[in-house]
Amino acid sequence: MQEIKFYSGENIPLELHKVRVVQKLHLVPIERRLEALQEGGFNTFRLNTKDVFLDMLTDSGTNAMSDNQMAAMLQADDAYAGSQSFYRLEQAVQEVLGKKYYLPVHQGRAAENIISNAYVRKGSVVPMNYHFTTAMAHITQYGGKIVELLYDEAYVINSSHPFKGNMNLEKLEEVIKVHGAKNIPFIRMEASTNLIGGQPFSVQNLRDVRAIASKYNIRLVLDASLIGENAFLVKQREDEFKEASLGDILKEMTGLADLVYFSARKLSSSRGGGMCTDSLEIYRELEALVPLFEGFLTYGGMSVREMEAMTVGLYETLDESIICQSPGYIKYLVEALDAKGVPVIKPAGVLGVHLNAMEICEHIPQKEYPAGALAAALFLISGIRGMERGSVSNQRDEYGNETYADMELLRLAVPRRVFTLSQIKYVEDRVTWLYENRKLIGGLRFFYEPPVLRFFMGGLEPVNDWPQKLIEKFKEDFGESL
Ligand code: F0G
Repeated sequence: MQEIKFYSGENIPLELHKVRVVQKLHLVPIERRLEALQEGGFNTFRLNTKDVFLDMLTDSGTNAMSDNQMAAMLQADDAYAGSQSFYRLEQAVQEVLGKKYYLPVHQGRAAENIISNAYVRKGSVVPMNYHFTTAMAHITQYGGKIVELLYDEAYVINSSHPFKGNMNLEKLEEVIKVHGAKNIPFIRMEASTNLIGGQPFSVQNLRDVRAIASKYNIRLVLDASLIGENAFLVKQREDEFKEASLGDILKEMTGLADLVYFSARKLSSSRGGGMCTDSLEIYRELEALVPLFEGFLTYGGMSVREMEAMTVGLYETLDESIICQSPGYIKYLVEALDAKGVPVIKPAGVLGVHLNAMEICEHIPQKEYPAGALAAALFLISGIRGMERGSVSNQRDEYGNETYADMELLRLAVPRRVFTLSQIKYVEDRVTWLYENRKLIGGLRFFYEPPVLRFFMGGLEPVNDWPQKLIEKFKEDFGESL
């Protein structure tokens, strides 16, 4: 890590970039923030950014672009077929991810749709370290089931385990024996396991999963959306790779998978996505589905400008001074909140800071969505927009019953090179205040619940007048301050 020491001894994540384009933000009064929540069904996905101060919903498509990415967008080659922009991108995929064949798609879930369409059938079982919402939705849409195989340590919030994203190898073998290899179209490994707090797996664990996949002749699919950050943490935490470059670690990981897919909205600070493989057979199985769902094979639903930004972004994923920035801020904020006693997922991972709503809102039963309530409460008192990653984000089972999440988290994403340190300190301040006033937060209930991916557009309402009580306390402590 390119850590720069301060004479004062303070541990400060110094920005290794300068700001050249800025966007004005609005911190609207708390009364307006309440109206915005009411208009948006107490669902932070449904807020309009004109009401949002710090947008920590996601890093997806919101990482800051570099000057070189912007410049590359101007040299894009507009063509339906055979665009030079595509060939530049294909070369970047070959060089950065080390795979021969590349299939473009418009974003990560489009790859999940195509892979599930090609391989998942009724009765299929897909073992994975942990699900991601869209991956699970596509697998179940095609009649498959998922099984999550993490070690128990992964669910421990207050932990120092360096690789909570590791696949439980014993359980994997057991699942294969119980269901039979023929019913397992692929094993899915997700880099920097998103929903358990952006936690990495080790290269050794991936090697062990590879060995099991080979033993039973099952495909290994790697979700590489957050692989740059996983590689960064491997360099820091796995002895064998202390001296390795991010590029070498990355290729070591992708080299173990039969098929790699990614959301470029995360991986390369751009838009778009893709699938890549060294297997001509797999390439052929997926190839036909790209024009069907996405677009011709040399754009896959992306604009040529997006492809140019993605090409440069892929190479920039190998630059440690770029990749270290978001994990550096996350570590800073996790340590600051932890010091104030706020329950957060530890160790600090990637993507964002994850508040443990199960503990912060222990007075709210899971059926009243503690993480959703915490997300709404934080927006109300600060204009900070986070994302619920708990039971609202879960889907009902096949009989229509609620399935409660293993963890109730509020994720505060820290997109690459977007925020300043004083903004991060504002987050620390307001989260701490809310923690101290947590008993004033109440539950939520659905008044509108879509059947698929309900968390995106669902509408909720508070179970009583707790938002008003929270506003009263805010005014008492902060007066007329926004
Ligand atoms: N896989 C992972 C690990 C992801 O984090 C995401 C998206 C996807 C696949 C789907 O990619 O959005 O391009 O279709 N994660 C975003 C998030 C939405 O906010 O964490 P997509």
